[in-house]
Amino acid sequence: MQRTTFFLVLLMACGSSEAEPEPEPAAAETSGGEETTEPQHTHGRHHHGHHGQGHDHDFSDVERFAAIFDDPERDSWQKPDEVVSLMALEPGQTVADIGAGTGYFLSRLSAAVGSEGRVIGLDVEPNMVAHMEQRIASESLANTEAAVVPTDDPGLEAASVDAILIVDTWHHIGERDDYSAKLFAALKPGGSVFVVDFTRDAPHGPPPEMRLSPLTVAEELASAGFEIQTLEETLPHQYMVRATRPAEASE
Ligand SMILES: C[S@@+](CC[C@H](N)C(=O)[O-])C[C@H]1O[C@@H](n2cnc3c(N)ncnc32)[C@H](O)[C@@H]1O
Repeated sequence: MQRTTFFLVLLMACGSSEAEPEPEPAAAETSGGEETTEPQHTHGRHHHGHHGQGHDHDFSDVERFAAIFDDPERDSWQKPDEVVSLMALEPGQTVADIGAGTGYFLSRLSAAVGSEGRVIGLDVEPNMVAHMEQRIASESLANTEAAVVPTDDPGLEAASVDAILIVDTWHHIGERDDYSAKLFAALKPGGSVFVVDFTRDAPHGPPPEMRLSPLTVAEELASAGFEIQTLEETLPHQYMVRATRPAEASE
């Protein structure tokens, strides 16, 4: 069941669509990287930023990341079945997974939209997309495709998708207000984007200074005209924000 906590009330109270500087979380220690989708202390180039700058992280070593992202142990805290269930996808719908990585969510999305539906796995990292294409073939996901996209554009046609999933990736995207407007344009009226990301006190995740509160995510999406709702979930280390493009008013 979905919680009826509307962030828009909080947004109006805050009176700003700018992301707030993120204070240091109380529990900033990470796991050291072997049980997270965001390994710490072990990656090469990266860049930290605030106010819409993304966390530029090198994901080209697919073999290494596949061992982390697709670790069966991840299911216990990522709860992919619950995430996809909360998306309330229907057979025949088109769904995009932005920052899809190794394609951890693709089979579940594929099953949810069925043979008449379409799944599009998108990523900036060509090695991830090549890996997804192999996975799509080996798992015979006939309704699924993968593509490389630029960092600042999901590359989706206007009003072409019913739903968009963005897991552990929103904090990597820069200029998120502009990106939100592109997501809004890509969704059909009534369609939704779902952002799943780490809470500030999660035992693993991105560096503390890169973590975004659900309120900040809500502000960034609301700036594009989305209606925001948090979803009630049982994920131990993450939140899930739904942003819906309002349905067009009937004549
Ligand atoms: C932490 S991984 C998450 C992968 C996947 N969503 C999952 O849950 O397993 C982040 C992924 O986002 C991709 N990425 C980073 N910035 C992106 C952007 N601006 N647009 C699309 N993908 C991006 C990275 O290449 C990486 O594969």
